Amino acid sequence: MDLIIQNGAIVTETQVFQADLGVKEGKIAAIAADLSHVPCAQRVDASGKLVLPGAIDAHTHLAFPFGGTVSSDDFFAGTRAAACGGTTTVFDYSGQNPGESLLDTVKRREAQAESQGPAVDYALHVGITDLSGGLLDTMEEAVDYGVCSFKVYMVYDFAVSDGAFYQVLQKAQQTGSLICVHAENKEIISTLTAQLAAQGKLSPWYHYVSRPEFVAGEAARRAIAWAKSLNAPLYIVHLSDQEGVEAVAQAKAQGYAIYAETCPQYLHFTCDVFKRENGRNFVCSPPMKGQASQDALWRALKGGILDTVATDHCPFLQSEKDWGKEDFRKIPNGCSGVEVMYPYILSQANQGMITFPRAVQLCAANPARIFGCSSKGSLAVGKDADIVIYDPRKDFTVSQNNMHSDTDHTIWEGLRLHGYPHSTYSRGRLVYQEGRFLGQPGWGKLLKRSLKP
Ligand code: URP
Ligand code: ZN
Ligand code: ZN
Repeated sequence: MDLIIQNGAIVTETQVFQADLGVKEGKIAAIAADLSHVPCAQRVDASGKLVLPGAIDAHTHLAFPFGGTVSSDDFFAGTRAAACGGTTTVFDYSGQNPGESLLDTVKRREAQAESQGPAVDYALHVGITDLSGGLLDTMEEAVDYGVCSFKVYMVYDFAVSDGAFYQVLQKAQQTGSLICVHAENKEIISTLTAQLAAQGKLSPWYHYVSRPEFVAGEAARRAIAWAKSLNAPLYIVHLSDQEGVEAVAQAKAQGYAIYAETCPQYLHFTCDVFKRENGRNFVCSPPMKGQASQDALWRALKGGILDTVATDHCPFLQSEKDWGKEDFRKIPNGCSGVEVMYPYILSQANQGMITFPRAVQLCAANPARIFGCSSKGSLAVGKDADIVIYDPRKDFTVSQNNMHSDTDHTIWEGLRLHGYPHSTYSRGRLVYQEGRFLGQPGWGKLLKRSLKP
């Protein structure tokens, strides 16, 4: 063996048990009660610690052109931060340029990622914006290349029409791919935004007011109805509201493959953050909602209605957030989170809100299964040795100073966590330990995926 992690408590998606774990050539090669007799190059003692699969953040925006700028973490900075928070795979939402084939989007973003040097493995989803001239037919080429998940936005300048969304769902069914959706009602948001602006109501609080609770739930219901009519699977990103939770629960109960993701910011903050002096820093879409929605999300998280937790990591610099100090329409939408996601969810597990296996389901096993990452997401023989050693006794307070993103502030400033990752391994290589990034640019590789049986 190259590495044996001894005496730790192994956490899988179903159980926690004491065992040793052996790694050979970047893969998990053995899990057994006692590997102390097995020859190996390096032994690590994990007594008193948990040994978990590295997390998969299925929703990030790296070097993302958006809101009049580009998100401030490129593929290196974003994946460095990920590694330091125990996340060993990130998915990027790469946007199709007008007139571009979906395979060309993939190749353009792959080249950009490779030039920036990702520190952990990454996968790509493609945000579909232009169906003209037969471009939707290029989905098959992207799927054959190993990118089998796509996204449509129901909001923003690059939103697709209802008819286009329906065609995307049809094509996904033909190609064996999965459609993700940002569900909010664009027309109602535009109307309310114009009305608020006419009344001079433009402080960050009105970002929330312009997107009342129902605009996300209503859009989710429509998207689910179309997916159901085609029996096509659908993945709802960044679910934030009670009505959306109810729509997903109903569709699941009826037996449809409707998946839902939420993000730590919706579990932790409510819309009250937009009233803070630095409320602009929290502006993201959909916005954080009221307490009833947060309570519904927690029930869904515990009860199996939510499938994944991801971050929607899309950081902007303070100077860019400041553009909208007096006018929420000018604030680039998005916040950082990739380094905090796994520590936040594991800290919740450590305090008994959910079990550790449930945390592994949400942050590793389920995203791997849903998005066809067969080599990732579990501690099992043959899987990539993406491993986190977690110290449940280490208290940690998040601060801009101890994060590893290229952005210059964090909405998580002051967050107190109970338990924290001690070490992170990416394919058997140590990339983080006790506050220090130990990886290297370019170690991360593009994951080719398939959802075909
Ligand atoms: O505010 C957000 N979420 N920014 C990133 C783009 C998106 O909607 O996911
Ligand atoms: Zn979105
Ligand atoms: Zn997003």
